[in-house]
Amino acid sequence: MTKLLTDMERAAALLRDGQLVAFGTETVYGLGADATNARALAAIFEAKGRPRFNPLICHFASADAAFAHVEARALAEALAGRFWPGPLTLVLPRRAESRIDPLASAGLDTVAVRVPGHAGARALLLAAGVPVAAPSANRSGWVSPTTAQHVMDDLGGRIAAVLDFGPCAVGLESTVLDLSGPAPVVLRPGGVTVEAIEAVAGALGHSAATGGNVGLRSPGLLASHYAPRAPLRLDAEAVGTDEALLAFGPALPGGGAVWNLSPGGDLLESAARLFAGLRWLDLQVADRGLRGIAAMPVPARGLGAAINDRLRRAAAPRS
Ligand code: TXA
Ligand code: MG
Repeated sequence: MTKLLTDMERAAALLRDGQLVAFGTETVYGLGADATNARALAAIFEAKGRPRFNPLICHFASADAAFAHVEARALAEALAGRFWPGPLTLVLPRRAESRIDPLASAGLDTVAVRVPGHAGARALLLAAGVPVAAPSANRSGWVSPTTAQHVMDDLGGRIAAVLDFGPCAVGLESTVLDLSGPAPVVLRPGGVTVEAIEAVAGALGHSAATGGNVGLRSPGLLASHYAPRAPLRLDAEAVGTDEALLAFGPALPGGGAVWNLSPGGDLLESAARLFAGLRWLDLQVADRGLRGIAAMPVPARGLGAAINDRLRRAAAPRS
């Protein structure tokens, strides 16, 4: 498996050559491909088992590089100035002259763009010299990867290389903000909190902040997602010895296996440890024959909104 690990120069060359290269970002590991190359994009959907109607985020080394492909109005410029590089994705109208292949945006007239906060990721994007479409580097519907090992576990036989940048600092995906309509809409809560966006953009309003109509604007977001194989039970107030426990703060007594997101109740630490914890607990359930995972409540403030969003989707009925 380790033969998949590569260096920056080779990773950039592979991307230019239309190959799939996974790389670390501050949020989660991405599965990168040249966004101007339809065959490379098709290979992303194939490797992930991702439905073609679910569009991809395009990654750039700088805001100028991103805004060459989309129409950025004043609010987009202000948000980019405040949060880029960093875990914010902006959905904006595509420029007619953009060479990003329509497959990246699943045929929509918008493109989701982001400048990652991880300096290594930006160096790769600069060296590649092409827009890089990169969904999270996991099989579709499964828990996102926050280490190179997670990527190799999920996609080892299906991709050309992995660029190992160590564990992801944020650990949750970027916040996806749709700026293509009359008012901004949060399509996915993530690494930049709604409160921080509102400090720049003004109040988003209830349904806009929670993505009330997300099913219409981003079809990929409604289904069960981020899901371990084991069933997940939310808001646990007690836990059986036949259950695995995802703890937050002082752990409930009795779990058959325990992963504590943060014994001290810190939300940043919890976000960074969430996906690794779901993967580990899932293994414990299988190895020890437990009946599922029980998750203690996590407060909804700040990054807690994104953590709760991921937990709800992980617990949603599977289709
Ligand atoms: O942090 C992240 O955003 C990571 C890293 C690798 O950058 N990427 C990531 O990509 O989470 P993915 O594909 O797992 O999630 C992208 C989300 C999807 O829910 C997709 O539906 C939405 O963004 N999206 C992408 N393009 C869109 C568009 N043009 N309009 C609306 N939603 C879009
Ligand atoms: Mg994903």
